[in-house]
This record gives sequence, C-alpha cells and structure tokens, in this order.
Amino acid sequence: MIHDTVFSPSFGNRPSYLVGRDQVLRGFLDGLSTQPGSRDRAVVMLGQRGSGKTVLLWELADRAAELGFVVATPTIVSEGMLDRIIEKIQESGARYGKQQARTRISGASVEAFGFSVGLEFTREVQETRTPEYKLTLLARALSERGHGMLILVDELQANSEEVRQLVSVYQELVGEGLDVALVLAGLPGAVSATLNDRVLTFLNRARKVSLTPLALGDVDAFYQHAFEQLGIRLDDELRLRAAEATQGSPYMLQLVGHGIAVRAAEDGSVSPEALGVALRSARSDFENDVCETTLVALSDRDVAFLRAMCVDSDTSNIGDVAARMNVTPDYAQKYRKRLIDSGVIEPAGWGRIRFAVPYLADHLRAVNDDLMTGGA
Ligand SMILES: Nc1ncnc2c1ncn2[C@@H]1O[C@H](COP(=O)(O)OP(=O)(O)OP(=O)(O)O)[C@@H](O)[C@H]1O
Ligand SMILES: [Mg+2]
Repeated sequence: MIHDTVFSPSFGNRPSYLVGRDQVLRGFLDGLSTQPGSRDRAVVMLGQRGSGKTVLLWELADRAAELGFVVATPTIVSEGMLDRIIEKIQESGARYGKQQARTRISGASVEAFGFSVGLEFTREVQETRTPEYKLTLLARALSERGHGMLILVDELQANSEEVRQLVSVYQELVGEGLDVALVLAGLPGAVSATLNDRVLTFLNRARKVSLTPLALGDVDAFYQHAFEQLGIRLDDELRLRAAEATQGSPYMLQLVGHGIAVRAAEDGSVSPEALGVALRSARSDFENDVCETTLVALSDRDVAFLRAMCVDSDTSNIGDVAARMNVTPDYAQKYRKRLIDSGVIEPAGWGRIRFAVPYLADHLRAVNDDLMTGGA
C-alpha cells in the first residue's frame, strides 16, 4: 500500500498544503498592516463545516507571528476564554517582554505598569484585577514595545457572554489607539446571530470574510501535484472526476485524496473501479461528518423544509416548497431566511433557492427514499 504523506482528512488538522486560500490570507495580512483602529483589523470569518476555518486561523497565527505580532492562537469560545487568551498572549509575548521589566526610582525597585517579570503580572494585578484590565495592560505593554497583538477566536457561539466581554474590551483597546487586531471565525448561523447581538453592534463594522468553495482548477492542480509526489498515476480524466467530486469542499478534498491514495495499487496505478470505491467511501464519510452534523443542529421544521426542497433536481421555487409543506408562502419565508442565515441554502434568483452544503440534497433524497421503501 502507498504510504499517504499528503492527505489528512480530520477536522482542525493542518493540511500539508493550503489549497486556494492565498487571496483570503493576503487579505488578512494586508489588514494587519493597516493603521491600528482600521476596520480591516477586526475580521469575522464564516464558512460551513469543513471549509477550513480552523486551519486558516492557525496559518494566520503563524504568518502574523512572523510579522512580529504577539498572537493568541485560536481559542474556542467557552467559559474562561478571556483568561485563556491572556495566558496565550503572555506566553507568546514572553520573548518581547524581557526588556524593561522594572524601573528603579530613587534606589527602590518599582514594578512597572503592573508587571513583575516580562509579561507576568504583579501578584496584586494577578489576584485582584479583571481579565479585561489584564488584557489592556498587555496591549499597552506590547504596543509600547512596537508589537501588535492579534487575538484569534474559533467556533463562535451565539449569545456568548465571553464573546461580548472580548469584543467590548477590544473596542476599548481600539479606542486607546493600541496596536490590536481580532479575527473571529464561525459557522454562518453563529456569525449571523452574533452580528445581530445588541451588544455587539461594533462587529457590524468589522470586515466579513466568507470561505467560498475551492475552485475546481485549484483542486485539480493540487491533486496533480500531490499524486505525483506520492507516486500515484491517475489519468487526467479520472483526476478531474476526483476533483469534481470534492465540490470545492476542503474536507472532501482531503477525504477523496486519502481515499485514492490508500486504494492505489503497489505500482501507483488507480483503476476506474478503485476510484469509484474511493469516491463512494469519501462521500459516505462526508455525509456522515458534515451533512448529518448540519442536520442535527437544525430544528425539525427546518429539516422538513429541506426535505421539501430536495424533491427538486437543482433549484427550488419557494412557493412550491411552501405548498409541499402545507404552509403559507409567508410562513415558508421564515424558514428560508433562517436557513440562508445558517448557510445551509442560498438564494438562486427571484423566488428560488438551492442547497449550499455539498451532497446535502442527495443525502436527504436517500433518507426520503429509505423512508418510502421502509429501509434503514
Ligand atoms: N485550504 C485547504 N486546503 C487543503 N485542505 C484544507 C484546506 N482547508 C481545510 N483543509 C482540510 O479540511 C479539513 C477541515 O478543515 P477545518 O477543520 O479547518 O474546517 P472548519 O471550517 O474549521 O470545520 P468546522 O466548522 O467543523 O470546525 C481538514 O482536514 C483540513 O486539513
Ligand atoms: Mg473548525
């Protein structure tokens, strides 16, 4: 069996090569080089499951660190998030914090600005001050030393007190003119709910970046290179079939690539049959990990709406969907909006919608068929 050293189909796993995200990455880095306070320094990134939000945040962390930023690597929204961010800033900023820890005034050792050693707080600050205050001290100390502070947040949650806390303090730091930047990433639904949060109106001015499907040409070019590197021979037509099967999903790209690699013959050849098996297996994993997980997060009514949609082969008319659900078109509009907000469907011209998650329509059709035939 060929040893797969290229593909790694697993969430959050850094890919050996980041396909098709040069522009997005450049956009982030350009944002970091703008003046503190510029709206390009606060970015909200949204993308479906498996679109590569987490790996892009990690890539950004590395690139920003190379530019001299002190980075709080991707922190998942959870209780105590601010404390975790503070620890990460202290840790990654330690190498810049050595200079000027204490100043001597008339022979007595005075702790400078709440710090004892480097970016460690004095005991008074550590034990009695709020996380907001600590983060402000860190931002001031780093700005004074000419270093920006970048905070990366992953898996944004709607209605999160931690996110409100973070965004409020970020806003204050911007107000002080400090060198700070913030990137928040999440599923479209969570992002849309966050932007609608009364307390977070500030974020509406942030830049929104949508992770769109990868271009077919980028996927195909990557496959060509990757298979060559693994000693796998796949003729152009079969390779294109593989690239098309990914439907631009980075996760599917990894699943398909890995599936092919493990099914290639010892001499590197891949038969059309082996390719077929690889594609079916990748698709089944994708339906399980992405489609099912997407459906589980939706209400029964939302799923009923999607079921009513999947009867159509490409786009659906909202009136037809309403009729199939036995509801008024007005009523159906509510579901339409919610599902668009959550990135599961998208508008497709006047009064029409289509699925936005690869293979979701097929997955639902298969489930419908099963129900009809009484299968599992
Ligand atoms: N640009 C890319 N090129 C190649 N592979 C990628 C790319 N982006 C992501 N991947 C791969 O796709 C998979 C999913 O990536 P990731 O975990 O970052 O997605 P995500 O958007 O964070 O998903 P979730 O919403 O479930 O957290 C991983 O296996 C990762 O290696
Ligand atoms: Mg993720």
